[in-house]
Amino acid sequence: MKKACVIGLGYVGLPLACLLARKGFEVSGLEVSDEIVEKTNSGISHIEDEFLAKEVREVKGKLKATTNAAEALKNADVVAVCVPTPVDKQFLPDLEALKSACVSIAENLRKGMLVIIESTIYPGTTEEIAQPILEKSGLKAGVDFFLAHCPERIDPGNRKWRLPQIPRVVGGVNKESVRLAGIFYGQIIDAPVKELRSVRSAEAAKIVENTFRDINIAFVNELAKSFDVLNIDVKEVIEAASTKPFGFMPFYPGPGVGGHCIAVDPYYLIAKAKQSGFDHKFLRLAREINDSMREYVVELAVEGLNALGKSLKDAKIAFLGIAYKPDVDDTRESPALYIIPLLRKKGAVLRIFDPHIEALSNVESLEAALEGADAIIVATSHKEFLQALTPKFVRKKKIGFFLDCRNAFDKVAFKKAGIAFKGIGC
Ligand SMILES: NC(=O)c1ccc[n+]([C@@H]2O[C@H](COP(=O)([O-])OP(=O)(O)OC[C@H]3O[C@@H](n4cnc5c(N)ncnc54)[C@H](O)[C@@H]3O)[C@@H](O)[C@H]2O)c1
Repeated sequence: MKKACVIGLGYVGLPLACLLARKGFEVSGLEVSDEIVEKTNSGISHIEDEFLAKEVREVKGKLKATTNAAEALKNADVVAVCVPTPVDKQFLPDLEALKSACVSIAENLRKGMLVIIESTIYPGTTEEIAQPILEKSGLKAGVDFFLAHCPERIDPGNRKWRLPQIPRVVGGVNKESVRLAGIFYGQIIDAPVKELRSVRSAEAAKIVENTFRDINIAFVNELAKSFDVLNIDVKEVIEAASTKPFGFMPFYPGPGVGGHCIAVDPYYLIAKAKQSGFDHKFLRLAREINDSMREYVVELAVEGLNALGKSLKDAKIAFLGIAYKPDVDDTRESPALYIIPLLRKKGAVLRIFDPHIEALSNVESLEAALEGADAIIVATSHKEFLQALTPKFVRKKKIGFFLDCRNAFDKVAFKKAGIAFKGIGC
């Protein structure tokens, strides 16, 4: 296989396209965004990630991005679909981007092509949605062209686990599709590739991985609320339980779950199972508990300020961090985006700052956010905040209340410095 086409050059597609170029493939990237096409072709990463920025620079000229499907797909031996699969306002799967990508492929499909869907999809999507669209080309899946699903597991910002080091699972519409997909990934990654008997298993595996996290985070979020009442430090308890060398895996509470995966993927399984008459009560409850943490953060802010004789109404709050996790510029489904309007609704005056997200910050620096603030709410513990916000520094600013939604700061040191400090369940 010599020519590869990656459809969708986002958090998933861009690193894959770079890897393919480094591995000697002729690579094209099909994108709907002119800006991403322009940046990629100029060797500039549109995603803030040091490592990825270097890769995009290095593959300049080797990775050709375009908005023209015929140009991108011409002579492609393998096509990887990496478009978004969000949910709509009713939390139902929105497969519009996937369908549109499949239409582009169908119009340019040729015999022998291997089409791999990397986007996260519910079990059945490859065979029920993608395959019929692709077969409108007149070619038959598993006979004239090959169709597989290999869910992407990348963790943007993770320095240890980069794309080549992460094991993969693949499923296909027939044996030959799985075999070819297995060979393809074997050529580009250093980790094992597990070939599955069914494409549905591959689709389900990814949803299970992310739902597992959502459920476990919901469990510790519920513990955080309960332990706040019982006056037990949830972080200390989780660390204590983690000393058991088997049968326990630590998860930590926070302001809710964000990102394009964990907060979205469970809905894909919930919706698909519902269609077949099964109600995923446990998954729905986990989503509900994790979403309830936004209101809980506001409750904690009210309590913290009240204890100082202040009210949330008209309180000046330095609201720090908008990204869904530390040290990235991704705001998709970020809890901060929901907490901010809740605080504003209660009359809080917010100075919002995220060093990675200028567009949504309303002040230009941490200093400006802290100036004259009654309270600090750290919604995302970016390293800039961890470095700057020492107890001494916060005390000097005469800020009375510190709400650490990530339990990332040293609670004991803050309390010693006379600052009213609250974590989530700590
Ligand atoms: N972000 C993650 O950490 C992550 C990890 C694993 C899996 N996934 C899954 O991978 C998929 C992609 O996620 P992402 O985070 O890369 O999304 P993204 O939004 O960062 O990137 C998707 C890109 O596809 C482009 N696009 C949309 N429709 C298109 C079309 N019809 N043709 C060509 N380009 C199109 C968009 O402009 C965008 O640049 C999703 O299914 C997601 O669930 C994401």
